[in-house]
Amino acid sequence: MKKTTIWIDCDPGIDDAVALAMAAASRDQLRILGISSVAGNQVSDRVTENARRLAAFYGMEDVPVVRGAREPLLKVPETAASVHGESGLGNCRLPDTDKPLASENGVAYMAQAIEALPEGETLTLVPVGPLTNIALLLKVFPQVRAKIERIVLMGGSASGGNHSASAEFNIWADPEAAQIVFQSGLPIVMCGLDVTHQSGLYPEQVEALLRSEKPVEHAVGEMLSFYADTSSRGRTVACIHDAVTILYLTNPELFGGEWASVQVDCTNDINRGMTVCDRRAKTSPKPVLVLNQVDLPGFQKVMLEKLASI
Ligand code: BDR
Ligand code: CA
Repeated sequence: MKKTTIWIDCDPGIDDAVALAMAAASRDQLRILGISSVAGNQVSDRVTENARRLAAFYGMEDVPVVRGAREPLLKVPETAASVHGESGLGNCRLPDTDKPLASENGVAYMAQAIEALPEGETLTLVPVGPLTNIALLLKVFPQVRAKIERIVLMGGSASGGNHSASAEFNIWADPEAAQIVFQSGLPIVMCGLDVTHQSGLYPEQVEALLRSEKPVEHAVGEMLSFYADTSSRGRTVACIHDAVTILYLTNPELFGGEWASVQVDCTNDINRGMTVCDRRAKTSPKPVLVLNQVDLPGFQKVMLEKLASI
């Protein structure tokens, strides 16, 4: 089977950590060209360190990890420490690694890696943090657009926010970058809160992971028991937002959605960071597939199988 080539842009982050685990477990289907960090859930030094350690912990020694943007395009940086903890990974302590950072200038590195793809090969970008790096990539290196098949991102919502009443965290954290990406004209799959609030594990499944003696399952159990308390209060599942992107790539049959044109509110008013999803019949073009349905038992089965396989 032909593999899908992807680049993961992340701010680990507990659910980012699970997304990376899903990718590590899917290398029969996905070729991971690289992983970049972006300031978001925590400051750049912390998310970059977490990305490096996670890549090593999951056995992705061969995948380059690079440091991306240290702050949003215009907005004052703010973290989500109350959701992901001071370390960014809740109470989980990952082993140190001597895996080096492949670059301190991640966006330029990503551009070079994309340009170096063989003739005819394309790439899927998988951003699961603020869209700063992706906006910079598209603006500073427009020549890479031709090699980007699509963007499968976690962010946004057509039905209310989590960070504010109307804004989802990743979009709120860098609205100007998000507007650049959504208006780029590239095909986008938006794994926003409409689907991610329905996608997760039941408390007893998280507890079983925590009891596991396998290092990856146990670490993910530790992270998710922290995250369920801070981010999924009042929900029946511990939502694992970022992992939806990878499971959409490996198992698209589990999801459903609607096509839309998406604009980001970049005003300084109450709706700053809101993704305004226009699904009206008369609107054209509609380059964004806004996911809003998941087969939950199927999602959980695939996720638990992948975690057990690492
Ligand atoms: C998104 O915000 C972050 O805190 C998570 O890592 C995820 O990417 C969910 O709104
Ligand atoms: Ca994230």
